[in-house]
Amino acid sequence: MKIHLIVGARPNFMKMAPLYREFKKYCDLFEVRLIHTGQHYDQKMSKVFFDDLNMPQPDFYLGVGSGSHGAQTAKIMEEYEKVLLEDKPDWVIVAGDVNSTVACALDAVKLHIKVAHLEAGLRSFDRSMPEEINRLATDAISDLLLTPSLDGNQHLKNEGVSDDKIVFVGNIMIDSLVQQKDKADVSEILTQLNQQHKMKLEKGNYCLITLHRPSNVDTKEGLKVILDAFEKIAKDLHLIFPIHPRTQKNIEKFGFEEQIKRMTNLIFTDPIGYYDFMHLQMNAKFILTDSGGIQEESTYFGVPCLTLRENTERPITITEGTNQLVELKTETIIEKADEIIKGNSKKGKIPDLWDGKTAERIVSLFKRMRGEA
Ligand code: UD1
Repeated sequence: MKIHLIVGARPNFMKMAPLYREFKKYCDLFEVRLIHTGQHYDQKMSKVFFDDLNMPQPDFYLGVGSGSHGAQTAKIMEEYEKVLLEDKPDWVIVAGDVNSTVACALDAVKLHIKVAHLEAGLRSFDRSMPEEINRLATDAISDLLLTPSLDGNQHLKNEGVSDDKIVFVGNIMIDSLVQQKDKADVSEILTQLNQQHKMKLEKGNYCLITLHRPSNVDTKEGLKVILDAFEKIAKDLHLIFPIHPRTQKNIEKFGFEEQIKRMTNLIFTDPIGYYDFMHLQMNAKFILTDSGGIQEESTYFGVPCLTLRENTERPITITEGTNQLVELKTETIIEKADEIIKGNSKKGKIPDLWDGKTAERIVSLFKRMRGEA
């Protein structure tokens, strides 16, 4: 059985690496090809993850780069269709909710090639987010829907998907985390940042920040609300802020560089590789983010997470994990951060099937589908 695994943007790499490795254990049964659309292309947004996660060079690199949603999605479709026609896989597996996910899924179904969606069924019910549209569209056309949590199964059933297409396999991102945890444990990133920035970072004395959602960083007002809160929080804690290219551009565009420089307790750095970022998460006092994956990783680590969004497609991180949603208001962000600094942080547990064995379950499923298991 020939299978294509699609990666495009940063959050895809840690989901496909464990699946690629697991399929490769059964070379006699599966011919696996890794396809990188090139949606993310920087060394620090892409290449470092291939190295840290021990992924081989992609078999096909589409090199599409950045663009508007329409242009980027169209370019991926145009390029990937050529690969499909040439290579003719039996299955295409896409992950998550980025433009590469929906573009490659659409190409495949139109050529009558089966599609499996990894991380299916998640819903924020907020159609102003491009990712929600990508999730809805990909789920609607996929043949196999692999869910990370049971709320995903329920959403799909509510949308009329038949039971036999939906399989609760667990959270594959946790597989990467379990496989790479030993390396993350011994990362020297805190020592390196201390030397570079003359700080005294140690376990529990800093807040880790990531921000890249258009709703937070694409307007001057939104970004100001957040940076004003950082100025106050930085009086009590060190802040580490690895910056996403979108956010970097907007900080320059809106003229916030001076405000950032004023915060002597804030470390503003390039995007960080996989192990080092895991190390920073595990040891943070708390995390402030608008990412999807970090809400889940922080729940796994039991580290409090404040998510700067009105909604989340990952509600299990709130009902069972350490995550809380925070309104985009300076005072609210400060108030929530203060609670954690004073020791009133939310406790959580690790959700069901976030156990490092999701890739194994998926490959067993494909073996059964081949009639081999
Ligand atoms: C994309 C995903 C988002 C995911 C995020 C993780 C979609 C719709 N969005 O958002 O769900 O959470 O990735 O990072 O697919 N850029 C670079 N170098 C790169 C990549 C991007 O400089 O390697 C810059 C470009 O100016 C680009 C901008 O970042 O225009 C945004 O990149 P894009 O892939 O369009 O969306 P993200 O904001 O990264």
